[in-house]
Amino acid sequence: MGKTNYKILEEKLSSFNRFRLLDEPTRIHPLKNLNKQLNGIEVYVKRDDVMSMGLGGNKLRKLEFILGDAITEGADVLITSGGIQSNHARLTAVAAAYAGLDCEIALTQAVPKNDPVYTGNGNILLEKILDVKMHLLPPEENANVFTDRRVSELKAAGKKPYVIPMGGSSPIGCLGYVSCFQEILIQSEELNIHFDTIIVPNGSGGTHTGLLSGLKIADVKQTNIKSYTVLATLEQAMSVTQEKIGATLNIIDKELSVDRDDIDIDGSCLGTGYGIPTEEMIKAVKLLARTEGIFLDPVYSGKAFAGMLNDIHNGKFKAGSRILFILTGGLPGLFAYESAFGEK
Ligand SMILES: Cc1ncc(COP(=O)(O)O)c(C=O)c1O
Repeated sequence: MGKTNYKILEEKLSSFNRFRLLDEPTRIHPLKNLNKQLNGIEVYVKRDDVMSMGLGGNKLRKLEFILGDAITEGADVLITSGGIQSNHARLTAVAAAYAGLDCEIALTQAVPKNDPVYTGNGNILLEKILDVKMHLLPPEENANVFTDRRVSELKAAGKKPYVIPMGGSSPIGCLGYVSCFQEILIQSEELNIHFDTIIVPNGSGGTHTGLLSGLKIADVKQTNIKSYTVLATLEQAMSVTQEKIGATLNIIDKELSVDRDDIDIDGSCLGTGYGIPTEEMIKAVKLLARTEGIFLDPVYSGKAFAGMLNDIHNGKFKAGSRILFILTGGLPGLFAYESAFGEK
């Protein structure tokens, strides 16, 4: 990475409208204690879980560009969807409140869990405090069909709705992680550290998409972006991510494209499905809390961190590698998973 020309990213991003939700770059630091156990591999974390607004997380970066677009279009209500413990839904509600827009969220039963802690604590509790309009969809209802219907109703009532797809991973939303890649290039230069690999969880694929698009635009050769799928099968995650990269590059740099070989996704830590705890995730959450005082979330970063640890222990990263793991937030979700962490 080092002295790469990140100005190109700044220049390309400057033509998009942006509504600021982050006040400063998020910190990068090494895992001082855990690194002693990692066979010479050095893991650094980027703290996208620590932001001053709404308990932070990766979605705020996407929402900066989404809100910029929505406000330019004259929208007065944001509408989005996600699972019951969607961090994206919570942060959309937070960003809408801050920007003075109305917000509606359609919540699906994406995870086979319905204990009262899961359905009432964590993100749901915060959304109640925010007083966002929540639509709890029955299992048979498709979120996109519901959203289309609700958009028609809102328009008929004279409102100007703006639809945000699941996870905020529209091409405009993905620009949030193009911008994050620019931030990483600057920090890498300031810290004088080259990262061989940057790791993120892959849910709707937007975080991976933004980082890889940024890497392509800045023409960085010696860094690999790797994600661990926590939602879709490996095959689906590859197709969705490839499609999103194409769509994102199409709005920011039409000349560029990516091959399937450029996309590195691992499918080994999903377990039996989205939001369903795995033993490895539980161990990873406890390990990072007990060595570094950092809490991973159970749905995204917990599984991805477990996947990374497994790959380190199996020698998949070359000796002496420096890895940057982006902590993407989601802490409120931990409070909904009491049933997984009930025992010591
Ligand atoms: C905490 C957290 N980490 C990671 C992700 C995955 O990001 P993406 O949907 O961009 O793949 C999400 C998405 O919901 C999330 O809430």
